[in-house]
Amino acid sequence: MIYNYSDRVKNLKGNAIREIFALLKDPELISFAGGFPTLQTLPNKEIKEITDCLMNSEEALHILQYGSTEGYTPLRNTVASFVKRYGIENVTEDNVLIVSGGQQTIDLTNKCFVNKGDTVLCEAPTYLAFLHILKTYEGNAVGVKSEEDGISISDLEEKIVKCQPKLLYLVPTFSNPTGKTLSEKKRKAIAELTAKYNVMVLEDDPYSELRFSGERVKSLKSFDKAGNVIFTASFSKTIAPGLRCGYCIADKEVIRKLTIGKQATDVHTSSLSQAIINEYLKKGLFEPHVESIKKVYKEKKDAMAEAIKKYMPCDKIKFTDPEGGLFIWGEFSDNIDTDEIFKDVCLKTKVAYVAGSTFFPGENVKNTFRLNYSNATLQQIDEGIKKLGDYFKNLLGAK
Ligand SMILES: Cc1ncc(COP(=O)(O)O)c(C=O)c1O
Repeated sequence: MIYNYSDRVKNLKGNAIREIFALLKDPELISFAGGFPTLQTLPNKEIKEITDCLMNSEEALHILQYGSTEGYTPLRNTVASFVKRYGIENVTEDNVLIVSGGQQTIDLTNKCFVNKGDTVLCEAPTYLAFLHILKTYEGNAVGVKSEEDGISISDLEEKIVKCQPKLLYLVPTFSNPTGKTLSEKKRKAIAELTAKYNVMVLEDDPYSELRFSGERVKSLKSFDKAGNVIFTASFSKTIAPGLRCGYCIADKEVIRKLTIGKQATDVHTSSLSQAIINEYLKKGLFEPHVESIKKVYKEKKDAMAEAIKKYMPCDKIKFTDPEGGLFIWGEFSDNIDTDEIFKDVCLKTKVAYVAGSTFFPGENVKNTFRLNYSNATLQQIDEGIKKLGDYFKNLLGAK
């Protein structure tokens, strides 16, 4: 059989991180490569109790029946008030679409706004799956310079004028992959600038709830006066990713289009997952649970930052020190190709990272890497960073 794939997917490569997982079968290997929540933090007992209650309730059969594409009405209403915590006001049910994870909002937004050959701007580096999704819609990703406090506003304006993008995609808080947070001042400037040039913005926020130090920053959406910002978040990193439940907030008209896009994709998000999440929020379980997982992540992040100071050649590698989220980003001052050495590192140290090049749109940036701290134990963090540090010192000493 000759498989005549569409042009759209013919040249797509698998997600680099998923490919790395295949390499990570060795049980001795310490992986800083993934981005999963810590397994032991997932609230299985509470979810079991809620599910039992739901299945014994009068609603049980309706929950198991097909539902509406927009989402389970009680959850849409709960979310409409929930997002006040992000400074997003005046939201009604009509501004809410429940999605099967934030990833689906990225897909639907590209589906609804991007034609073949259209430019979409993003931070360089950015979330890998966004680049992958954009490729499937045959769009063209252009990177905006990244600074300590998020993207450069002057570079953004220059690229808007030059490339006339349809969309700007951002992970403004505890970005994946860098852990950086966009300042409130820049959020306001971006909302104004994109409104001025008629550019849609997708604000992807899976991580802001995982803040373990510093002050909460208002969402970019809270500065949106023109209706050009789509805000998306999910309960993957705060409750459980396996439930595949998130939401997006946007202008009514945009929600309608995204809903039509979703109809063709998966009809609706699992009603059982939606009802579970709704009960979880309504019972007041969210806040205490998030407080408890933040303690776990802070402890792990502190352990990794400490180990980095102790074992890494910090005069030759610059690391971010995030106030939340799941990732630390490393950048060599020397011209080290983190892709090229990856297999050797895995083999010799039995420690894995993700090479930074995978997160860059187009450009060939080779001297960076991402470390995740949520999936290793404190002991593995110390041990793994020591091994990596020794390898890097050796490598740099030999240069
Ligand atoms: C930046 C970013 N956006 C979106 C997602 C997708 O999350 P989900 O679809 O589980 O909500 C992730 C997951 O790691 C992410 O890091």
